[in-house]
Amino acid sequence: MSRHVPQPAGASLCLCLTGSTIAEDLSLLERHRHRIDMAELRADFLAPDERAAAWRLPALARGVGRAASLPASGLPMILTVRRATDGGHWTASEKERLALISRLAKRGGFAWVDLEEDLEPGLVVETGPARILRSLHDPTGLPGGLAGRLRHIARGSREVAKVAVTVRGSKDLLELVRVCQETRGVPKVLVGMGDAGLPTRVLATRLESMICYSSEGSTAAPGQTDPATLEELYRFHRISMSTKVFGVIGNPVMHSLSPIIHNRAFSELDVDAVYLPFLVDDLGAFLEAAEMLGVAGLSVTVPHKESVLPLLASRDPIVERVGACNTLVRRDGGWFGANTDVEGFLMPLRETLAGRAASGAGGLSAEPREPLSLKGLRASILGAGGASRAVAYALAASGAEVLILNRSPDRAREVALRFGARWAGLDRAGLDLMREGSDLIVQTTSAGVGSQEGEDPAPGYRFSGREIAYELIYVPRTTPFLARATEAGCTVIPGIRMLLGQATGQFRLFTDKEYPADLLAELGKTL
Ligand code: ATR
Repeated sequence: MSRHVPQPAGASLCLCLTGSTIAEDLSLLERHRHRIDMAELRADFLAPDERAAAWRLPALARGVGRAASLPASGLPMILTVRRATDGGHWTASEKERLALISRLAKRGGFAWVDLEEDLEPGLVVETGPARILRSLHDPTGLPGGLAGRLRHIARGSREVAKVAVTVRGSKDLLELVRVCQETRGVPKVLVGMGDAGLPTRVLATRLESMICYSSEGSTAAPGQTDPATLEELYRFHRISMSTKVFGVIGNPVMHSLSPIIHNRAFSELDVDAVYLPFLVDDLGAFLEAAEMLGVAGLSVTVPHKESVLPLLASRDPIVERVGACNTLVRRDGGWFGANTDVEGFLMPLRETLAGRAASGAGGLSAEPREPLSLKGLRASILGAGGASRAVAYALAASGAEVLILNRSPDRAREVALRFGARWAGLDRAGLDLMREGSDLIVQTTSAGVGSQEGEDPAPGYRFSGREIAYELIYVPRTTPFLARATEAGCTVIPGIRMLLGQATGQFRLFTDKEYPADLLAELGKTL
């Protein structure tokens, strides 16, 4: 873990101190001092009997990190006592709140004091030598006329405007990106709260926002990120105006493993790029925001793989054949769509077949780097949704005999007709057909994931032990389908292998580089 080199023009990474005691705040600082540029004392989190002595915190903070040979001084601190109506923990009177701010600010050596733009007139706050972050909060959405307010809420040169608003979805994100463009050159802090607002935090430097707030366990505000995640996963301090931005669009998406897969490779190959999860509920609005943000490429996941098709300017022929797109790359002022699910699915299969041939286990053989011919392979696919289509195309185009089995036989029929396959229901007759001959069984249904964790799509099927069982679910790592196949002695391919396979194809499209093989092997074991 290397220490960052602060960029004078970049946004500062600020740790919110959310302990209930000063000692807790100091230990938070101790843990994250090497990652941050400043800290915010959230005095509204302090227990009432700790508040009076909180003025000592900036001085005490100077001692933190000495052991790590960090500068003893130079950690600017913000003083904030956030009202409950703005999402804070302060519940006593406004008069007491402002009195506490005045007492702490006068004695404490804080660099900044956060004061709301709508303070009751007539109540006096003394901030001593500290500068003022004049803040506007909206825990419910985006107030109108934000660009104008950002320009005018700071009262004089000692003040900087701050807005913390709630990004409810892609339309709000687009609006916030527009506000940033309209207020170029205005010193400001801009925070988009909520998961859909994450880009405004990680890309603070690109949006010319002076501060990115973070907190351990993301406790201080909705959508906030942990300093370790910001620094170690997103390499926050390396992000500049020239950093290429990539990400995954989906809904839900916040727990996607793709940011780990891509950011780790950017880091290993020293590529100036960052990859984020983008929670997208309106594709059109998001793609407009992405264009304004200069996003260079995107992975596409559920539920957007099909709905993105009309928004493509150009596409790979495989996208057309599969009827789904999992990758977008910005090309000639438009979005080019590709589908790396097909090669991502085939890559581990090719390796497994080559491994079986080498070990004399019989069956079909294929060299890992050769185009794979699966002539003669009898393959069954469980499920007839979007994932099934990419698999059916990959197998049929490689020469395999394909049988599609689905709970609703009509959907199986639809996919089968498209790819010249046979079909059946996931019933006794279907399972008998599958039992008659399956060298490969691919599990593409959602039985085993999310609300269906622990479920088996074909509990009546008895594995012979000679099948290759290929599961597409990767969280959890093991499903009842995989567990039963392993028990029966089958060769198994866990879902993480296809996830990594499709990501390596995307990485090539994004960077023109090959994904590092050692990292691929490591993530195959650890993710
Ligand atoms: P995806 O795009 O990820 O493939 P999808 O289009 O929603 O997702 O398809 C989900 C697939 O899982 C469908 O084939 C579905 O079967 P139905 O078409 O009959 O709904 C299948 N599926 C979901 N839950 C299942 C279960 N408990 N048992 C068997 N199949 C299931």
